[in-house]
Amino acid sequence: MTDQFSKKTEAWSARFNEPVSELVKRYTASVDFDKRLADVDIEGSLAHAEMLQAVGVLTADDLAAIRGGMKTIRDEIANGRFIWSLDLEDVHLNIEKRLTDLIGDAGKRLHTARSRNDQVATDIRLWLRGTIDESRHLLAQLQQALLDLAEEHADTIMPGFTHLQVAQPITFGHHLLAYVEMFARDAERLADCRKRVNRLPLGAAALAGTTYPIDRERVARTLGFDGVCENSLDAVSDRDFAIEFCAAASVLMMHVSRLSEELIIWMSARVGFIDLADRFCTGSSIMPQKKNPDVPELARGKTGRVYGHLMALLTLMKGQPLAYNKDNQEDKEPLFDTADTLVETLRIFTDMVGGIRVKADRMRAAATEGFATATDLADYLVRKGLPFRDSHEIVAHAVRLAGDSGRDLAELPLAELQAFSPLIAEDVFAVLTPEGSVASRNHRGGTAPDQVRQAIARARTRLGTDSP
Ligand code: ARG
Repeated sequence: MTDQFSKKTEAWSARFNEPVSELVKRYTASVDFDKRLADVDIEGSLAHAEMLQAVGVLTADDLAAIRGGMKTIRDEIANGRFIWSLDLEDVHLNIEKRLTDLIGDAGKRLHTARSRNDQVATDIRLWLRGTIDESRHLLAQLQQALLDLAEEHADTIMPGFTHLQVAQPITFGHHLLAYVEMFARDAERLADCRKRVNRLPLGAAALAGTTYPIDRERVARTLGFDGVCENSLDAVSDRDFAIEFCAAASVLMMHVSRLSEELIIWMSARVGFIDLADRFCTGSSIMPQKKNPDVPELARGKTGRVYGHLMALLTLMKGQPLAYNKDNQEDKEPLFDTADTLVETLRIFTDMVGGIRVKADRMRAAATEGFATATDLADYLVRKGLPFRDSHEIVAHAVRLAGDSGRDLAELPLAELQAFSPLIAEDVFAVLTPEGSVASRNHRGGTAPDQVRQAIARARTRLGTDSP
């Protein structure tokens, strides 16, 4: 009986009359994808064993043997020599079996006061915590890249759009800062999600806790958790922390996707505001002139895939009674793929933003089309005493005349402008230029170059203090 675990392949097999069918084995096994948890699985096991020894459940010799065995296993995995077995279902049983092969009975004692249910929940949390930290780091770098570009273009004029129609002149730096704000909120969301990820499930055992005199706080400290999960049933069953991460990742990808869409529009020959470095683009096999913005297009596409993972996890949880159900094994692939997609996207975007070439002349030219300074003329008349609604009407007439005669507002001679209102004087031309227009939006959050520079400085300070 004591040899049960080493003789049979499945840890539970004494109760069964026939082995699991091959089909079922493949259907239920998760080792192909959960083996990437090996490192955190071992880390969790070592903290658990250390605690068991401290409370007198394991001997010092057992602990020493476990540590030695785990070191060997880590090396085997790192060198690609570890043999993963589908028969052993998942990462946890694979490692435990190898440990027992290496060190005998001490290996079999490791699973005292623990279940795979609290073990896997701990592993995912440890793994996700690392992923969140990596994402936050990459997100900070992306913000730095945007800030560097914004600084370079604090004075660069471009048209601002609403409804994709030219609206008012803005600075390119100001436009980029909008994304810095979005990504700063994404970083906050990740940091907030981390708080709830960083709780220890171990000690919940299968679902109800354990009869051993465990010290959960000690394990939590060893593993760097902020505290323990309060309720054992909740600890083994809920994956809301993974859902939260996927939700934060979805919002982040939504922002990346909007930026991608703009990069694609800006790079089209029609618009021609920017050029992306060649290493982020591909050509066409048939049209020699093509340079396609593949990276932003793919990021836009991958956003849908991340949303899909969020839906998958929400749906995975919604029908599960307490506590652990095997459904939860399905949490890993969507979570892993979300993290991989996010991390790769952030990494490539930082590099890509750093390589954006801005065609400032094209941007400025576009800002002088479409009567982008019409609002400035209206505001000018208001400053001269006219009610805004009246001035709005007057400017609409001026825009019509300019449009009909193929000229911009700034190209109308003073006499023609004065026909619309005697309040118009020589000083009107200062507000009709895009430079005058942006400079006059001179308050916190506005597009004036001075404000852009101040906003960049504040964002840099925030990044310096927030960075993980
Ligand atoms: N591979 C399983 C998972 O990912 C580990 C937990 C298995 N627990 C169980 N009672 N079968 O969820």
